[in-house]
Amino acid sequence: MAHPSRPVACVALPIPEATLHRLREKLEVRQLAPGFDRDALHAALDGASGLLCSNLLPIDGELFDAAPALRVVSNFGVGFDNVDVAEASARGVAICNTPGVLSEAVADLTMLLILAAARRMLENASFVTGGGWSRGEARPPLGFDLAGKTLGIVGFGRIGQAVARRALVFGMNVAYQDVLDDPRVGFETCLQCDIEDLLRRSDVVSLHVNLSPQTHHLIGHEQLEQMKSTAWLVNTSRGPVVDQAALVDALRRGAIAGAALDVLEEEPPALHDPILSLPNVILLPHVGSATIETRQAMLDLAVENLLASLDDRMPPACVNPEALGRHEIQRGGSP
Ligand code: 8YV
Repeated sequence: MAHPSRPVACVALPIPEATLHRLREKLEVRQLAPGFDRDALHAALDGASGLLCSNLLPIDGELFDAAPALRVVSNFGVGFDNVDVAEASARGVAICNTPGVLSEAVADLTMLLILAAARRMLENASFVTGGGWSRGEARPPLGFDLAGKTLGIVGFGRIGQAVARRALVFGMNVAYQDVLDDPRVGFETCLQCDIEDLLRRSDVVSLHVNLSPQTHHLIGHEQLEQMKSTAWLVNTSRGPVVDQAALVDALRRGAIAGAALDVLEEEPPALHDPILSLPNVILLPHVGSATIETRQAMLDLAVENLLASLDDRMPPACVNPEALGRHEIQRGGSP
């Protein structure tokens, strides 16, 4: 009987030649061309036991139907809100991600946004490049000091804690809220509180939660009203954690001072999206992990997740370990 001697893996994101070569030593690789459509994806998944993909690709029942041999999805990214994890677990498909290796890069970018907001970096930079300084025009208003101000961190996991470490060095007070109640070791000087308290006391609120049904629109009209009118909202997590229509309204009314966002509800935003024309926003194109070193570390981890799972070894980062090995059992093979 003609069985492929090596497991088949579909690679649905562009990866360097050296990484492809590494995968080809162990697997039969089907590399999808950039801009692939659903039909091309489904064709590549036919008979595939592994999928390496961007965490923007929807992984749902329809995809699993097209890929009955699938055993592992290795998501390139820490977030896995693109995946129907319950459906994956029910079908015995392991879902892997890349936690840890991007925490420092995302925390750096968060700090950059906080500093840019505090020191009015965009207005000052365009004051120079736009000729305002040369023409002797009035300078932009003064910024504010970070030392002595309160940073409220919503979601105190790896990234939230990495942001806290940086903020403490800048002399900020840190308040945090998390779904886990236990105080975090090493952050005894920080205040653990509920989200209402955090929103009321913070000069900058920074979001570091996963996107889930529980955190969808976590920050909406009511929460924005609780914030200080001088406060900034920073989001480097996921766009839909914030009700963006409510945010635009709050920014227009001056209910808060500004928003610095690396993520939006719609990415990329439509050209007419009102968030693009507000004066009190700093917007970046979802680049929290976008450094050479971090993207390489993410790829290395995603590749190891894929190879380990297909080699029946424990992958370094699996969000539903209960699914590991169940595929074979469900199909009557060896556990
Ligand atoms: C993206 C991210 O993965 O890890 C995450 O969850 O949001 C980012 O690191 C990256 O931008 C590639 O899409």
